[in-house]
Amino acid sequence: MNNSNDLMLRIRRMTKVFFPGTSNEKIALNRVNLDLKKGEFVTILGANGSGKTTLFNAICGTLELDDGIVILDGSDITWEKEHKRALHISRIYQDPQMGTAPNLTIAENLALAYTRKASPSLFPLNKKDYRFFHEQLEILEMDLELRMNTKIGLLSGGQRQAVSLVMEIISQPKLLLLDEHTAALDPQTSEKILEVTNKFVRSAGVTTMMITHNVQDALTNGDRTIVFSGGIIAHDYRGAERDALDPNNLQKLYG
Ligand SMILES: Nc1ncnc2c1ncn2[C@@H]1O[C@H](COP(=O)(O)OP(=O)(O)OP(=O)(O)O)[C@@H](O)[C@H]1O
Ligand SMILES: [Mg+2]
Repeated sequence: MNNSNDLMLRIRRMTKVFFPGTSNEKIALNRVNLDLKKGEFVTILGANGSGKTTLFNAICGTLELDDGIVILDGSDITWEKEHKRALHISRIYQDPQMGTAPNLTIAENLALAYTRKASPSLFPLNKKDYRFFHEQLEILEMDLELRMNTKIGLLSGGQRQAVSLVMEIISQPKLLLLDEHTAALDPQTSEKILEVTNKFVRSAGVTTMMITHNVQDALTNGDRTIVFSGGIIAHDYRGAERDALDPNNLQKLYG
């Protein structure tokens, strides 16, 4: 049994049916139960259409549930509006164009994220805040700290995803949701973004869920791997069982 104080996320009976009662009825989430401990980093695999993004939409409040409850850090958020949940839940999408404002500079984007969520009272930002942004960008090792006055729209997809990561981390979320956030990048950039994802997630100790179609990435990142199938959690691997999995076999099944 988990001590509920150790839990960041508790999901019970989460159910979402699209087009109910019609010939197109689709049970996207079928009475899903899931607990995430504080600081846990879970990777999520599953075939196309198995319900992974719907799970994120339901957690963020983008979708209303048909049944079930969502508890975040001890608070029942099942009926809380999406914009309120966004104060505590950060999300990065596959498309590097989402999540950052293209006509604002790197510094302005970071300032917005920082003041919107973590510390609204700190407005206007001072030199110390900008030094902090600078330090966070340095962690990326992409020289973006030298381009803080560059507009985001001029950056590559990988650089934008990296800035998105810094934005979400400095806003100190209780939960970070990554929906195939490296899938649109070339293999080398994707590897780099995964590396910095790990760095940030571990140093901030933020509870994280990462959806990926890359089985190797799912098994080598995070502490635990969940496999979705037809709107249910078909497998939940951790510890020695997870360590012993053969990525090639899994790839054939769930890649
Ligand atoms: N807003 C929606 N309206 C109708 N059906 C939807 C909606 N969102 C998702 N679905 C359906 O629910 C099922 C689960 O979709 P979901 O996007 O969660 O899959 P996924 O596991 O994220 O797949 P992928 O790996 O392709 O991103 C699919 O059959 C999808 O067509
Ligand atoms: Mg999806």
